[in-house]
Amino acid sequence: MASPKPIDYGARMTDPNVAKRAAAYAAANLVQDGTTIGLGSGSTFLFVLERLAERIRNEGLKVRGTPTSNGTAAAAQAHGIPLVALEDIEQLDLAIDGADEVDPQKNLIKGGGAAHTRERIVAATAKELVVIVGENKMIDVLGKAFRLPVEVLPFGWTHARRRVEATGCTTELRQKDGQTLVTDNGNWILDCTYPGIADPAALAKDLDSMVGVVDHGLFVGMTGRVVIASDAGDVRILP
Ligand code: A5P
Repeated sequence: MASPKPIDYGARMTDPNVAKRAAAYAAANLVQDGTTIGLGSGSTFLFVLERLAERIRNEGLKVRGTPTSNGTAAAAQAHGIPLVALEDIEQLDLAIDGADEVDPQKNLIKGGGAAHTRERIVAATAKELVVIVGENKMIDVLGKAFRLPVEVLPFGWTHARRRVEATGCTTELRQKDGQTLVTDNGNWILDCTYPGIADPAALAKDLDSMVGVVDHGLFVGMTGRVVIASDAGDVRILP
């Protein structure tokens, strides 16, 4: 009889949802009764909605949310979380959102889901932006591994591209299902490859003042606490 094949534990895949859910649940537990919060976008953030819905059911938590994307608005409604438009409120008590990269100064790259323009507006309106990530998103220098998303107006976009590339990157117009991806704002995304972003504040300032650029995914000095989860689901919080 052939001997059984040994189990290759090294080949066992870690489940990325363990870290995502752990970070998201820890952040959702920070939400206080009677508050209005910014609802981020992305696969990690969806677990925040799951936990908020649970708290609404179990604790009678009263909370309202301002979504950063049409996708999040639909998901929040499906979870029974009341929504309020950003223009109808003075300030958000808290915003919670994922990120694509976080550096040691808590600067971020966001926009992997093309929602960074609304995410920046919502974060800027909140008393605090709480960022939720798996440990793998913590990096030394932004932009070495992840491309920086820049949202541009379709009108004359090749000129915006030329201006963006003059900051030291190459760009690719984001596609989805064989078509140019259109953001919730009706714009396009340039994914920008840098050798690493040595000075995120300087680059953000350049992009902020660029004609044809709607917004970019660099969040500099905007982050409050960062909730970080390991693959095993252990959570730590950077203050
Ligand atoms: C959406 O545009 C992004 O900023 C997301 O918040 C970011 O890409 C993180 O997404 P995941 O949680 O899916 O990794």
